[in-house]
Amino acid sequence: MRFYKIQPKEIPGNAISLFDDGWGLLTAGTPENYNTMTISWGQMGCLWNRPVCTVYVRPCRYTYTFTEACDRFTVSLFEPGEQRSELKMLGTQSGREMDKMHHSGLTPMMLDGLMAYEEAKVVLVLRKLYDQQFDPARVPAEVANSNYATVADDDLHRQYICLIESVYSRD
Ligand SMILES: Cc1cc2nc3c(=O)[nH]c(=O)nc-3n(C[C@H](O)[C@H](O)[C@H](O)COP(=O)(O)O)c2cc1C
Repeated sequence: MRFYKIQPKEIPGNAISLFDDGWGLLTAGTPENYNTMTISWGQMGCLWNRPVCTVYVRPCRYTYTFTEACDRFTVSLFEPGEQRSELKMLGTQSGREMDKMHHSGLTPMMLDGLMAYEEAKVVLVLRKLYDQQFDPARVPAEVANSNYATVADDDLHRQYICLIESVYSRD
């Protein structure tokens, strides 16, 4: 396999750009039954003296069923601009309707017993530490207007603060 393990502090690139410009694939479930969706909201940093990554998933996503059922999942991070059409497809179609993981043009692979994608630049193996649903009453009006205008109160994102258990990179 082309991937090798690195330390969280060795993750190449800018943490904001990795999510906002590169985008990621959140993959949760078992190798026999998993789902993947595109994400661009996320942070990496330090919490409780641990390296963490926080991701955000709305309950309406099929992937949510898997992030709720599993303790661990992966985030495959891509170089800015790479695999754009594949990531757009995985971010607009639902695994409820089709086996998009095997029709995306990307190559699923197993890492630490979880599924991720070979075309990624960096793969984070995450373990949930803490999760909670956004409270609509506490979301600022300007954020709610631009993000949740047509969203039901119980479908705001759930945040998952996760321990970065392992990181894999490739040349
Ligand atoms: C660039 C991009 C970024 C996205 N980021 C997120 C995100 O951070 N959280 C989220 O819940 N949905 C996000 N989405 C939407 C999901 O990827 C999309 O609804 C997907 O079809 C859900 O698939 P699923 O039903 O198979 O889980 C994003 C979509 C795109 C195209």
